[in-house]
Amino acid sequence: MARLRHILRADQFDRFFLDRMEALTNRIRMVRKSTKGAIWLKSLFPDRAGMLYFKQASTRTRVSFQRALQMLGVDIIKILDATTSSEIKGESDWDSIRTQSSYVDVIVMRVNDKGFAARMAEHLDGTPRPVPVINGGSGPDEHPTQALLDDYTLRRSFKEYGGIDGMTIALVGDLKRGRTVRSLAQLMQHYKDVKLLLVSPPEFAMETDIIEFLEDKAIAYQITDEFDLAVEEADAVYLTRIQKEHDAGGESGGVDVSRFCFTERHLKILKPQGIVMHPLPRVEELDYRCDADPRVKIWRQERNGMFVRTALLYRIMSEQKLEKKWKGELPKHMQDPLWVLPEME
Ligand code: NCD
Repeated sequence: MARLRHILRADQFDRFFLDRMEALTNRIRMVRKSTKGAIWLKSLFPDRAGMLYFKQASTRTRVSFQRALQMLGVDIIKILDATTSSEIKGESDWDSIRTQSSYVDVIVMRVNDKGFAARMAEHLDGTPRPVPVINGGSGPDEHPTQALLDDYTLRRSFKEYGGIDGMTIALVGDLKRGRTVRSLAQLMQHYKDVKLLLVSPPEFAMETDIIEFLEDKAIAYQITDEFDLAVEEADAVYLTRIQKEHDAGGESGGVDVSRFCFTERHLKILKPQGIVMHPLPRVEELDYRCDADPRVKIWRQERNGMFVRTALLYRIMSEQKLEKKWKGELPKHMQDPLWVLPEME
């Protein structure tokens, strides 16, 4: 993938992209350590504006995107509640998004409808202002930027063990409706000999579309409800909560999820170099008393998200800026250098 306009699904990322994202994120992190660097980053896009269009509950994704935009000096406009938008007067989604595209240069959106971001991106591509759309979570379907920060966290955690290749990763919880695990599973196609343990109550097993994807890409996987065995075997245990908000008729109520909760007892059976991740928010899947163990990476993961999103926005907006000057799509040789942060002036 060379050109970066919309960020809609995890399967649009290739290995080159993930490698470059890691390097750019590390660089931004470094530069931001000094006040001079932080001020310089803020000077990069003073003429740009970004929209946060979040019609579904969000803390981390919304706040980290907001912080990422601020770090790059981008102005921010927010619609966080549809009742404050003219949609309440009967305006269509499409008119609402097209209106936003008149005012901003990038739209980050979270909505319940799984195809919405892709549809809006396609529509916008047919207009004079085809601003990039970033999917910040589409119903129970996908969460591509969460997958990027999870990938980054896995890479950093396994750096001294040769990276993600050869690792066993347990995805635990509501695999059916958890968009984070659906997106992350797809990224595993870019690594060698990864094994996925798909650990869930049978009611919330991974959907067949992702299973078919794993088959198609020859990614090893095992479906199980043996949580303790999975914790023993895994190099990374990725916990998720039951997504009750997607219940059609209270189906979560009847499922005993206590068997899939990580407690202090599990710290003893987790490998010494094993790690625990969770996209958060957690409910009961990870006991608070585990947080102090250095193998529990949840707060690192959360903070990584802010830098990964800053890198992503940097890459998207520098391409956009150059395209404007160039007046059209950039040739390939001009796209790759966009992954390198210029020298500080
Ligand atoms: C996740 C989400 O919204 O999909 N949260 C997040 O973005 N970090 C996970 C969840 O809600 O369970």
